[in-house]
Amino acid sequence: MNRANLDDLVDLLGRWASGRGPLHLLLAARLRALIDDGVLPPGEPLPPDRVLARRLAVGRGTVVAAYDLLRQEGRVLRRQGSGTRVAALDLPATRTTDGVPANPLLLHILHPPDGVALLTCAAPDEPPPLLAEAYARAAWSLAGLRDIGYQPAGVPALRAALAGYYTARGLRTAPEEIMVTTGAQQALTLLAGLLVAPGDTVLTESPTYPGALEVFRHAAAVVRPVTPEGLRAALRERPALAYFVPTARNPDGAIMPNPGRRRLAELAAEHDVPLVDDEVCAELCFSGDTAGATPPPLASFGRGEQVITIGSLSKLVWGGLRVGWIRAAAPLVSRLSRLRAVHDLGGEVISQLAAAELLGRLDEVRARRVPELAARHAHLCAELRARLPSWTFEPALGGQTVWVRIPRGEVDAFAQVALRHGVAVPPGRSFDPLGGHADRMRLHFLLPEEELSRAVNNLALAWAAFDGTGRAAVRHTLVV
Ligand SMILES: Cc1ncc(COP(=O)(O)O)c(C=O)c1O
Repeated sequence: MNRANLDDLVDLLGRWASGRGPLHLLLAARLRALIDDGVLPPGEPLPPDRVLARRLAVGRGTVVAAYDLLRQEGRVLRRQGSGTRVAALDLPATRTTDGVPANPLLLHILHPPDGVALLTCAAPDEPPPLLAEAYARAAWSLAGLRDIGYQPAGVPALRAALAGYYTARGLRTAPEEIMVTTGAQQALTLLAGLLVAPGDTVLTESPTYPGALEVFRHAAAVVRPVTPEGLRAALRERPALAYFVPTARNPDGAIMPNPGRRRLAELAAEHDVPLVDDEVCAELCFSGDTAGATPPPLASFGRGEQVITIGSLSKLVWGGLRVGWIRAAAPLVSRLSRLRAVHDLGGEVISQLAAAELLGRLDEVRARRVPELAARHAHLCAELRARLPSWTFEPALGGQTVWVRIPRGEVDAFAQVALRHGVAVPPGRSFDPLGGHADRMRLHFLLPEEELSRAVNNLALAWAAFDGTGRAAVRHTLVV
């Protein structure tokens, strides 16, 4: 089993250690579920005991005991010299891993709640009261509406509100240039579906948003990281798409200064490369030169129609609203709407009406959210400096997350120890198109201050139990 497969397996194992009971039983339970669901198909080789133990930062005996249990159940075959493999089971033949991604962040969303502090998913964990009000008003406004409700490009009231939002930011926009999507994730999927063919190159920053990497990989693109210095040369090769998060970037909360924005937009125009500006966290800028103000979208600097802007209310309001959007040239919006209609005849109407309502109260929405985020960010930074002084990071200028470096070892192994201390952290490699940044993790500051303190406390305990290889952690197997 090579390193990539091992990483995939560990991602699939997810928060395997978060239950109660001996570690070998927890590990066996998670492997059993993966085998029974067909995610690990018959014949699939499992990593050697020692390799998996090292990667999970547990003793070898834990893996041996888990494998032995599965062998007794007939789920794996273990032969001297040929290692451990998944056995052929008499289960329904609907099972395949083809095309099913193993992104650790997505897998954390799929895992049932288990009391672990999820620093993996950076999204507000409760809907704000304003949202309930907006839904109530939206529901009332349905009375008397004459509309069949199938709107692949979005409900007209929201398209108009979004056009108004960009126009107010100095970017003249017509409703025909807006398409409403089910979150920005669908925006990315549709753009990849239309603009990226298998084998095409997609340029991204590194680090970047893992959900986008997942979409591009799923489209069978070759994802290439690009630095500011290499930008001109990389765009000259005419990639199918360039994807950037210049404002309050996920994962490090960085904001690209205006000269960089201008250069990026102009180079994309010069080389006629579609440039996606992901503004999902753009309304969450709380520090630096633009504190309190949202920087201009890349499209403000563009000549031509290469720049495609995507946004969402998931981070400013709540992910469960599932309202995102695309701002693009009207013909592109038409093509995207036709593509969407193939599998989704349109978003849910009440959410869209509620979103239009919230856009009308944007200042209020921001005023309730951004100062709170800024305070939580300051609190997390102070806690990290006090409890984990050897960890380093640049404070975020906006967004919801900081990008932290550990001084030795790899976060993949540390994350296993952290899990057993009740904290799930996403390792840096998920944010890197080439799987680098092994010494980094992303921490979010969305929790109330006392919960952030508790999470940092647990991280500090985990760090004390981790010697860079995970070996010391074996002596400290802690229960959640
Ligand atoms: C940069 C970025 N883009 C897109 C998304 C997807 O957001 P949505 O919830 O709107 O689908 C996220 C969510 O984490 C994100 O961080």
